[in-house]
Amino acid sequence: MHAIGIDIGGTKIAGALVDEFGVIVKSERVPTPAGDPAQIEDAVVQMVQSLSVGEQVAAAGIAAAGFIDAAQSTVYYAPNINWRNEPFRAKLEARLDLSVIIENDANAAGWAEFRYGAGRLYSDMVTLTIGTGVGGAIVSADKLFRGGFGAGAELGHMRIVPEGLPCGCGARGCIEQYGSGRALLRMANEYADAGGIGQTLADVRAARGELRGEDVAALIADGDGGAHAVLRQLGHWLGQACASLSAVLDPQVFVFGGGVSSAGELLLDPIRSAYFDHLPARGYHPEPEFLVAELVNDAGVVGAADLARLSAAQ
Ligand code: BGC
Ligand code: NA
Ligand code: ZN
Repeated sequence: MHAIGIDIGGTKIAGALVDEFGVIVKSERVPTPAGDPAQIEDAVVQMVQSLSVGEQVAAAGIAAAGFIDAAQSTVYYAPNINWRNEPFRAKLEARLDLSVIIENDANAAGWAEFRYGAGRLYSDMVTLTIGTGVGGAIVSADKLFRGGFGAGAELGHMRIVPEGLPCGCGARGCIEQYGSGRALLRMANEYADAGGIGQTLADVRAARGELRGEDVAALIADGDGGAHAVLRQLGHWLGQACASLSAVLDPQVFVFGGGVSSAGELLLDPIRSAYFDHLPARGYHPEPEFLVAELVNDAGVVGAADLARLSAAQ
């Protein structure tokens, strides 16, 4: 039977009806209503209802960018959306005639890559999603890792810089502040302020009034030296984080998803070199693969639907 996956991102809510093979049957998307959980809830209810019209649906999985409990029902906390102990599953099930699970967005995306994408040939995988925030998913011995309270694999909030930049989670120095799309933009502005190699970034900023993510992406694609320097900086931080993750989890593959991963080798290259510079037991530790996600924008909805179907079947 088909299942529905909904992926609530910082900028858009994507939804899809997905078959048993991870193939999207139909899909929809709307902009994420700013800040207000009640409006997000309304948008999710509407989307599930409209995707269900005339269909038999097994369950719905909702991928949300936050710390989720073990029962997959409450969002404990979201750094970038105003959810605080939000009983999201109960609210949705009260309005929908369907069983619902709430899943961390990066867990959902990572699961989709593991089942159908870049991670399908491996048993042990770490996914980092590089978007507004940095999300994490861990598959260990073919199982999605959730931790003791459900809120594990929040890899974006690993401390990479002691007493570093403040993070939306309330801590300081998290990799999210150094390796996310938002961090990329901040660093692009810093390079623009510095002039020199960042001069083109400064010029584009002056012409547009501000630098936007798509400006930086376009300059990266153009081969601009300043934009490439920013991307290398991002990769430098991410690679170091991966070296520590290898010491803990020893994955066979690291998969990078989220918008920034579309930079492909330009991102993977500095990640690999920072990784090998910082890898414990370097030279003796087997080398994992570094890959970009294959399902890219669809990973969240496909993974959420798959996990919802699996949980409904239990
Ligand atoms: C949140 C995670 C989420 C990630 C990507 C982080 O700030 O803590 O729950 O997976 O952003 O959206
Ligand atoms: Na996660
Ligand atoms: Zn944090």
